Amino acid sequence: MIGVFDSGVGGLTVVKEIFNLLPEQQIIYFGDTAHLPYGTKGESFVKKSSEKITKWLLDKGVDVIVVACNTSSAWASDFLKEKFPKVPIFEMITPAVEDITALGKKKIGIIGTPGTIESQAYNKKLLTLNPSLKIFPVSCPLFVPLVEEGWLEGKVTERIAERYLKSLKNKKIESLILACTHYPLLEGTIRKVMGEKVNIINPAKSLANQLNLFLENNPKFSSKIKKGENHKFYFSEKPYNYEKISRLCFKEKIKHTLIKPLL
Ligand code: DGL
Repeated sequence: MIGVFDSGVGGLTVVKEIFNLLPEQQIIYFGDTAHLPYGTKGESFVKKSSEKITKWLLDKGVDVIVVACNTSSAWASDFLKEKFPKVPIFEMITPAVEDITALGKKKIGIIGTPGTIESQAYNKKLLTLNPSLKIFPVSCPLFVPLVEEGWLEGKVTERIAERYLKSLKNKKIESLILACTHYPLLEGTIRKVMGEKVNIINPAKSLANQLNLFLENNPKFSSKIKKGENHKFYFSEKPYNYEKISRLCFKEKIKHTLIKPLL
């Protein structure tokens, strides 16, 4: 089973990409809605909660962990890999960074939560692979509530996007990493503001590709959903606007269960 976690509903955009490539793999999802947002919290909180959630998912019997939250990936994925050395742990950053460097673009924009941007996790990994890259990070904290409100397009959302993305347009970036799991739902607006030439990278797609390859090469970690079983979605507090977000990702409302917060 694949254990997937995020601070809330954003990780559903990652599950969507996993479903596309690996429709038969059983998924257990945990959204830590009781502690949302992670993006404005500090490193120690994100590490502590990511560790608790990973333990909880492992207790549920998952074989692989997907850290489907860029902020947790940025602050806590190295820490989780040290704490759980035998568990295959996938995070949002490495697959995207590998894909983007393979494209050979030089000027790269990164948009994410304040925590992801402050951690410089994307910058460091990108520069390790190619020290000559020019990297332009921008945090866009209002994008998360806009997505949760379902305001994916329209004048207000475009104005906010224009304001956040102005410096990236001025720098004439060639590629843009959507380094927050909510942002792929805003891709239409981001594309409109940035123009057709910019190559937009959704790290969830890169992650799903790497997970797919890993499971092909390591079938002992793969566990297909059996007849009559369902994927399971747990949240630590009622997720706001769940039905809408669920329909945007999966075209249907997916059943979920509320459990007590783990911290
Ligand atoms: N899912 C988080 C991320 O990808 C954003 C939401 C939050 O701030 O908790 O960083």
